[in-house]
Amino acid sequence: MTTTQAKPTTHTTNSRLEAWVSEVAALTQPRDVRWVTGTAEEWAELTDELVAAGTFVRLDERRKPNSFYCASDPSDVARVEDRTYICSVEEKDAGPTNNWMAPDRMKATMTELYRGCMRGRTMFVIPFVMGHLEASEPMFGVEITDSAYVVVSMLVMARCGDAVLRAIEEQDAPYVPALHSVGAPLAEGETDVQWPCSDTKYIVHFPEERTIWSYGSGYGGNALLGKKCYSLRIASAIARDEGWLAEHMLILKLTSPKGAVHYVAAAFPSACGKTNLAMIRPTVPGWTAEMVGDDIAWMRFGADGRLYAVNPEFGLFGVAPGTGESTNPTAMETIARGNSVFTNVALTDDGDVWWEGMTDEPPAHLTDWLGNDWTPADGEAGTKAAHPNSRFCTPASQCPVLAPEYDDPDGVPISAILFGGRRKTTVPLVYEARDWAHGTFVGATLSSETTAAATGAVGVVRRDPMAMLPFLGYDAGDYFAHWLRIGEQHDPAKLPRVFGVNWFRRDPEDGSFLWPGFGENSRVLEWVVDRLEGEADAVETPVGLVPAPGALDVDGLDITPEAVEKALAVDADEWRAELPLIDEWFDLFGDRLPAALRDELDTLKGRLAAD
Ligand code: PEP
Ligand code: MN
Ligand code: NA
Repeated sequence: MTTTQAKPTTHTTNSRLEAWVSEVAALTQPRDVRWVTGTAEEWAELTDELVAAGTFVRLDERRKPNSFYCASDPSDVARVEDRTYICSVEEKDAGPTNNWMAPDRMKATMTELYRGCMRGRTMFVIPFVMGHLEASEPMFGVEITDSAYVVVSMLVMARCGDAVLRAIEEQDAPYVPALHSVGAPLAEGETDVQWPCSDTKYIVHFPEERTIWSYGSGYGGNALLGKKCYSLRIASAIARDEGWLAEHMLILKLTSPKGAVHYVAAAFPSACGKTNLAMIRPTVPGWTAEMVGDDIAWMRFGADGRLYAVNPEFGLFGVAPGTGESTNPTAMETIARGNSVFTNVALTDDGDVWWEGMTDEPPAHLTDWLGNDWTPADGEAGTKAAHPNSRFCTPASQCPVLAPEYDDPDGVPISAILFGGRRKTTVPLVYEARDWAHGTFVGATLSSETTAAATGAVGVVRRDPMAMLPFLGYDAGDYFAHWLRIGEQHDPAKLPRVFGVNWFRRDPEDGSFLWPGFGENSRVLEWVVDRLEGEADAVETPVGLVPAPGALDVDGLDITPEAVEKALAVDADEWRAELPLIDEWFDLFGDRLPAALRDELDTLKGRLAAD
């Protein structure tokens, strides 16, 4: 190799950061080093470069201003859970749900991968903060990456650049070092590919050191390290140590016809409609919904004893397919404002994007995400124009129903937490937990059919506790204990009430969805808020409290009373069939399973036996 090593920079007065950047440059051997400043000129320069490199296609300015289409390598389209590691010092601290390797061994392996891995590329340094720069203790990070796609996406998804760097310097603040490489060095004179990546992938977290190392993938959750890696995996470990919660939850502001305001947080596994619910247009008259967050909630207790949630993100990285005028018109308005990156969607002949579910009728001709010609006949033959996990990456500020409280570093007080999954059977449309410990049980046993958001089979039921299975930075048994401890240490009257929901239940007779979902989910939210206000009736069942007959508002809804009844039904036989699965799930945790959860399971068994 004749490429010379980049000279050490003197871009920051923070000597720790300066030393780390120099050390990484010496190891990875980039052509040059660029510090990300966060200006509009920088965005223009980077996106122009990505267009020139063939990675981006600029969309039509009138249709999607300042926006870009991008197709990844077909092998690099989703989070790689089997390549994701929690490298705690002790294996037991990663727990039975995470991959683990000893930190020293992992570092030795990855250091060899990183050696020279940025040859021929620019190394970018991105100072960022998750949450507000004005927070009492801002949560800083610095991502080093050799991908301009990652830089542009990070500029949308997190508060980045000079202002953040100056704050790190002035406060001499700790930051999470997050190292990323696509793992595709370029030899002298070698032309780049559209989407560089490697067959070898590692997404690695060192929770005690609060450090992230990622290699080989350019895809969202594997590469935009502020999001899942920092704000969930590393932050969950910090939150355990500090007595707060870092959760995979949307945050929604609801205003009732009487003007009562309630903030609700809701956990659903990836690709189960969090972004749709976060942007819901209520169909029930008189209700307003506004978005605070669509994916991540950081929740800390306020001086008044209530639990306050902040959305640490700056943008949305939403699943595109299924997003359309009828399902999520607010998301369509958000992206229409431009300044967005679309990955693995289809490209229209007039320089716009399309995906399955955007419109009822597909355009007559498209370029699909693999770059092939596509016509509706291909669709009928089963070829999707957009990858099922294709994404829009768009600024949160463009959401027309963004609640003003999004900008409040102290967050919003949460009245209710919803746990939802995608289940064809068993789980009712909505039910309320009896108390916090029972709510923890509902979250700990949450299950869902798998989706395209991660590589692997689709449609298989798996336990996904609090929708955090792929995002927990430590032992899941300890995580349950942390949830229970929060219930013990705080005033139960001020804790959020906990609910389970399932929009996806099917009619056992014909397989059709029992509930229309989308905007009509506001009817479920209405019942939840009315419960909080003491105005909605519920009946006891073995699994919790479900709406009393007539308590769920279905006025004007085209649905039979039998379908409502089936959607809300708690079938003792179905739940009895669930028990061995929960037993098996709990057995995984051995003696780190809190006794209170075994007690909850015994209570459920007892109630079902008596039913
Ligand atoms: C991602 O995979 O990049 C991502 C945002 O996560 P999720 O799968 O939860 O949508
Ligand atoms: Mn998510
Ligand atoms: Na999958």
